[in-house]
Amino acid sequence: MKRYSMRANEKYQELIAGMDLTKPAPENEPFRQYYFIERAKNKLKEIEAEAGRKLTFNVITFGCQMNARDSEKLRGILEEIGYVRVETEEADLVIYNTCTVRDNANKKVYGRLGKLQSLKRQNPYMQIGLCGCMMQEEQVIEKMKKSYRFVNLIFGTHNIYKLAELVSRSLEQPDQMVIDIQQSADQVVEELPVDRKYSFKSGVNIMYGCNNFCTYCIVPYVRGREKSRTPEEILCEIRQIVSEGVVEVMLLGQNVNSYGKNLEKPVSFAELLVMIQEIEGLERIRFMTSHPKDLSPELIEVMAKYPKICPHQHLPLQSGSSRLLQKMNRHYDKESYLDLVDRIRAAVPDISLTTDIIVGFPGETEEDFLETMDVVEKVRYDSAFTFIYSKRTGTPAAAMEDQVPEDVIKDRFDRLLALVQKVGREQTARFTGQTKKVLVEQVNEQDPSLVTGRMDNNSVVHFPGDASLIGTLVDVHLDECHGFYYMGTAVR
Ligand code: SAH
Ligand code: SF4
Ligand code: F3S
Repeated sequence: MKRYSMRANEKYQELIAGMDLTKPAPENEPFRQYYFIERAKNKLKEIEAEAGRKLTFNVITFGCQMNARDSEKLRGILEEIGYVRVETEEADLVIYNTCTVRDNANKKVYGRLGKLQSLKRQNPYMQIGLCGCMMQEEQVIEKMKKSYRFVNLIFGTHNIYKLAELVSRSLEQPDQMVIDIQQSADQVVEELPVDRKYSFKSGVNIMYGCNNFCTYCIVPYVRGREKSRTPEEILCEIRQIVSEGVVEVMLLGQNVNSYGKNLEKPVSFAELLVMIQEIEGLERIRFMTSHPKDLSPELIEVMAKYPKICPHQHLPLQSGSSRLLQKMNRHYDKESYLDLVDRIRAAVPDISLTTDIIVGFPGETEEDFLETMDVVEKVRYDSAFTFIYSKRTGTPAAAMEDQVPEDVIKDRFDRLLALVQKVGREQTARFTGQTKKVLVEQVNEQDPSLVTGRMDNNSVVHFPGDASLIGTLVDVHLDECHGFYYMGTAVR
């Protein structure tokens, strides 16, 4: 049992220190990466001796929770190599973990790269790395090779585990552009150091990729086909992090409801949740994202039965128009979505529902849009992310005719946002006057006499307290609701 209580990173450190660099690199993972961590560590020490200072790094994340989790893995490896983490772009290694779900995500990266180039001119040791979803697009790599020669290191979504090997190459050949992109995941390597952002909560990947090919969406092209981890691997990881102090996990997948279908021994998402909630010391289980088409009656039952599973569902609607939902390849219609919501609410009456909505999908008429508004009024979401449709090269929707004019989209977007905010405010406030458990996350950024945390339904609560409360669950009386957050008082 001694090994079990040991921190995961310490276990890796022992293995890394045991690597023999006089031998060629092992072929099998993760040992190959342990070897390269050790090798990069030595090279970095040489460079630091020459520079007369420690070298620093910063990994900057764009996009979703998947990328945020990947960035924690990148940071874990870089820290193990010996880089010191800083929060500024004036670092010796800056890595952008990119997103390409909408065009503005890409634009941001190009904009900031210009700034990095001028920083690089002033720092002879500086290296720039790019990874993540954008790098899985061929035209982006072509553009990098042609116009962004100052970038040192480019890799994709399927080989982040190879970071140590790539950094090692890059440190040994600083004048070359190291590019390593895989079209699919040959293997998933997990046994590597991770630097978790929070000590008390963590994302846990339960599956990678997506098979759904919604016609507007680029994710299946850049993240590859769906692949579930086995329940054993997931349970082992969660037990380990719970032993390190984690009380809340967020299970991550593009469509968690199709978890486990392609495993050798198929397991449903509902069954996985039952196994996870048995873990002692774990207090809260969240998950994201739940595709309405695959949400099973068993999942609803399990959510109603086990208190550790948080009463919150992020249930992307995308559109309220059955006609558009079909063109989007979503495999549900307005009626079946509303029926699903009724069944969820009947089983878990207090549940908070949140959603994603796209405005301006090709061919969207005023009638289609009014169907979306109607669903928002009927479902009454606690909050909703609203997006303007963005044309993604290579997706079926990009080739569809009747793209909606910009001014029409803008008008609809504003009307939707106003409705979503009105409903969101009313919904969020429904617990005013009650006492709820709040997991404290941080000292309030504006007012240091307050701490900020979240209720089980994900609502934000601020209340008087200090840093000693971080990571604990506190009973808080919800005094008032201010739009999208509560002000409260701890109940002793
Ligand atoms: N797998 C998740 C979504 C991941 S992408 C799901 O199916 O719900 C997050 C959100 O980005 C999507 O829900 C969608 O609303 C939005 N999105 C995806 N592609 C988009 C595009 N081309 N234009 C605008 N929004 C898009
Ligand atoms: Fe994109 Fe659809 Fe997959 Fe979500 S389910 S990632 S929206 S293709
Ligand atoms: Fe963006 Fe990739 Fe996530 S495209 S939304 S970071 S899966």
